[in-house]
Amino acid sequence: MTRIKVTVDGVSYSDEVEPRTLLVQYLREGLGKTGTVVGCDTSNCGACTVHLDGTSVKSCNVLAVQADGHEVTTIEGLAENGELHPVQQAFHECHALQCGYCTPGMIMQACDVLKNNPDPSEQEIREGLEGNLCRCTGYHNIVKAVQQAAGAMSPAGSASSQAVSS
Ligand code: FES
Ligand code: FES
Repeated sequence: MTRIKVTVDGVSYSDEVEPRTLLVQYLREGLGKTGTVVGCDTSNCGACTVHLDGTSVKSCNVLAVQADGHEVTTIEGLAENGELHPVQQAFHECHALQCGYCTPGMIMQACDVLKNNPDPSEQEIREGLEGNLCRCTGYHNIVKAVQQAAGAMSPAGSASSQAVSS
């Protein structure tokens, strides 16, 4: 067993893990973060996507020991002060999910896409999400949601939402 110290969704943890424990196993079974899901055993589906130091990773493809000393954000840590993250809000408003199984990973990946490219084209969104599979939606509303979130997160978008909320 190896001791790791990791911050997950803003909370610090110190735990003993086996060297072979996957990050997704640690999150789900060790910390009860079951919002992060497993959809395959081939590193293909992206359902397990989380952020490691702010960058998206497939947590079934990372060992828990590799997160030692680092910061992990899961879908459960995205909302702030009871307010959905703009990407979560946009998925909700655009009906960008059906069964919802891909959604946690899709949203985490979409956040990463928008962090690196705040104003992506439809093609860039599709390319950014190509490692995340959805068996239900046909992707159309997912792309729409990411476009809507990009607008909401742009300086103009957040200024108008502040104006509305103030
Ligand atoms: S569970 Fe499918 S890529 Fe991680
Ligand atoms: S909503 Fe069912 S897999 Fe994407």
